[in-house]
Amino acid sequence: MLNLTSEMMSELCDVYGNAFYLLDSKKFSNNFVELSNEFKKIYPNFNIAYSYKTNYTPKLCKIVNDNGGYAEVVSEMELEIALRIGVKATKIIWNGPIKNQDKIKQLLLMGGTVNIDSVFEIETIKKIAHQNPNHRLNLGIRCNFDVGDGVISRFGFDIDSIEFEQALDFIKNIENVHLINLQCHFAKRNVEYWPARAKGMATLALQVKERLGYIPDRIDIGGGLFGHMDDALKAQFSTTIPTYEDYAKAAASVFAEHFPNLETELLIEPGSALVGDCMKFVGRIETIKTVRNKTFATMLGSQKNINMGGVNPPIFVIKSGTERKYYKDVDIVGYTCIEGDVLYHNYEGDLSVGDYVVFSNCGSYSLVMKPPFILPNFPVIDISGNKVELIKRQEYFDDIFHTFSF
Ligand SMILES: Cc1ncc(COP(=O)(O)O)c(C=O)c1O
Repeated sequence: MLNLTSEMMSELCDVYGNAFYLLDSKKFSNNFVELSNEFKKIYPNFNIAYSYKTNYTPKLCKIVNDNGGYAEVVSEMELEIALRIGVKATKIIWNGPIKNQDKIKQLLLMGGTVNIDSVFEIETIKKIAHQNPNHRLNLGIRCNFDVGDGVISRFGFDIDSIEFEQALDFIKNIENVHLINLQCHFAKRNVEYWPARAKGMATLALQVKERLGYIPDRIDIGGGLFGHMDDALKAQFSTTIPTYEDYAKAAASVFAEHFPNLETELLIEPGSALVGDCMKFVGRIETIKTVRNKTFATMLGSQKNINMGGVNPPIFVIKSGTERKYYKDVDIVGYTCIEGDVLYHNYEGDLSVGDYVVFSNCGSYSLVMKPPFILPNFPVIDISGNKVELIKRQEYFDDIFHTFSF
């Protein structure tokens, strides 16, 4: 990434305004390769299905596609992104509890994968299969079982249920439906739950082989991994932050043991682990004031822009203002009218109006979850190479209000 100096900041602000996201698409690409390599070292028949919802910036989705990864989508909106950037249907996997029936038909007929989440989807698939006897429909099943994380997930089929049996019977009995995928996802990122998910899925795949006569082409053990982060951020979690290698050792080795001939492709569905450290958010300090001994520095930007709760994100201040003073306990707060809109608690150090605060690790669930609350969103700029590239322009009034009737 280009060196962030105060001269560069003021140049960027002149063009893009006083707040923006900085993308490092090179880092994203490196993360993809690094994570893949860790798993491939242990189980070479491996691939990544990038979780679009985490950060669906088309440039990032394209990098995944260029590196041979899959698109993991959960809505017709995300499917459209994949198709528009030229992802082949065979590289698209559609998860999620509710799906648009016309669109799943479209994807299935193109050769894409649809992971069913409940028995209620079976009727739809049956109809598509009967109407299109010359098409092989590639179906997946989202599986739900206990990995000891204390969560009862609402997603997928309880693998010990009658409904799961019904899904397998349906696949067995309809000639042009093929079980291409078994999938699961568990949200907790602790590496100690990873052997259980890998063992659960590997064992299940072998049981399914008894029923259907074949092992599904792919076993997808989901996302829920921590990514790279600074020590200051790591220190704020109650758990030790695992490395990519730790996850690979915990899961890929289970597959190497169960599938010595690499009979099935192991997939994971990371979002945060790939993109978390690939975006920064920058905003200018606009006011500093003290109320009953408590100091507040208000910046252009909001907690909604960085979407980090409960932790102080890694920050650094680029000095640019001229009224620099030393402060002991400053809350860096956002432009919204919410008292709790605090981006950083208890900052200690030099600060001035006109300084820029840079927040790191803002890549996951920030851009995609930013509501148009009080202001439309800020632009996204890629500065990973030696040139500045506008990835998403600033949003304006009409971007938000053209869907309303005045
Ligand atoms: C099905 C599925 N896969 C993958 C992910 C990505 O999770 P993460 O960003 O924690 O890796 C999610 C996140 O909610 C998900 O629901």
